[in-house]
Amino acid sequence: MVSHGYRGLHRPGDRHRIPKRGRRRKVRPNRQTKRSCVDFGIRGRTALVAGASAGLGAAVAIALAREGVRVALAARNLERLEGVAAESKRCGAPDARAFALDLQDADSIAAMLDEVHRVFGDPEIVVLNGGGPKPGRFTEMTGADWDAAYRLLLRGMLLVLERVVAPMRERRWGRIVALTSTAVKQPIDALVLSNAFRTALVAALRTLAVEIAGDGVTVNCIATGRIETDRLRSLYGNDESKLLDAGRDVPIGRVATPDEFAPAVAFLCGEPARYITGQTISVDGGLVRGLFG
Ligand SMILES: NC(=O)c1ccc[n+]([C@@H]2O[C@H](COP(=O)([O-])OP(=O)(O)OC[C@H]3O[C@@H](n4cnc5c(N)ncnc54)[C@H](OP(=O)(O)O)[C@@H]3O)[C@@H](O)[C@H]2O)c1
Repeated sequence: MVSHGYRGLHRPGDRHRIPKRGRRRKVRPNRQTKRSCVDFGIRGRTALVAGASAGLGAAVAIALAREGVRVALAARNLERLEGVAAESKRCGAPDARAFALDLQDADSIAAMLDEVHRVFGDPEIVVLNGGGPKPGRFTEMTGADWDAAYRLLLRGMLLVLERVVAPMRERRWGRIVALTSTAVKQPIDALVLSNAFRTALVAALRTLAVEIAGDGVTVNCIATGRIETDRLRSLYGNDESKLLDAGRDVPIGRVATPDEFAPAVAFLCGEPARYITGQTISVDGGLVRGLFG
């Protein structure tokens, strides 16, 4: 079982605990397939999930595997990727496979895409995701920090898109989903690199979405709120009380698990989402307070 870095923050007695009666009905997966009852219609499609060795990327890869999608998992740490690949196989993607990728390195991106193409053909679904940039305030950043964040959050994603978009248009079917942050709707204090480059990515993808909307390819972004992963812990601290604090100003009253995040991405990759494009959808428990948050 892959943990996605989730260590069970939500204990009995926490504020968000669901009462025994009345509030929410338990949704049981289909017993035979262990999949949800909603069919996203993408069984047999091929997906490339970047940043898939942990956290949100791993959870998305497994959610797609549950839909019967053939998943290519990419990140730097091959050992952790193999663990996610094994879990994906158990969940419904028997040929799930790990590919080495460093999004900061253009040669690594090209080599990964060549290898994915050799093994799976052109990906029909691409989930753009990777690590977060160095945290900090504007006045603390150096030119090297800006360069590194540009390579990780913007250039790396654009280099992937340069290769994957044309085959999707030719096939007249494709799904691109970029995992970004609520920072693109409301800048976050002391995360200036994220605020700057994720917003640029959303603007580029909004432009792309319109350009290729007539070709059966949708392009959407997720504005991620606070999900319990290694990244969130690195920002808030490993201490459980700090993570509980991180959830207090979220209207739902807590941070989320990666498994609560991933289905939204799987939905956007699915057939029923064919008329949704150019959107940035918040999965944030109501954190962003804007009218269109
Ligand atoms: N969790 C949240 O609450 C939250 C909120 C808003 C935004 N985000 C953003 O969403 C993204 C994913 O978050 P997460 O919480 O899942 O983070 P995470 O737990 O730190 O996972 C990051 C993933 O990206 C991979 N990665 C890091 N650097 C990479 C690189 N240079 N090339 C390729 N892959 C790389 C990591 O694998 P390797 O180390 O194996 O490469 C890992 O699989 C991050 O950009 C994060 O900042 C997260």
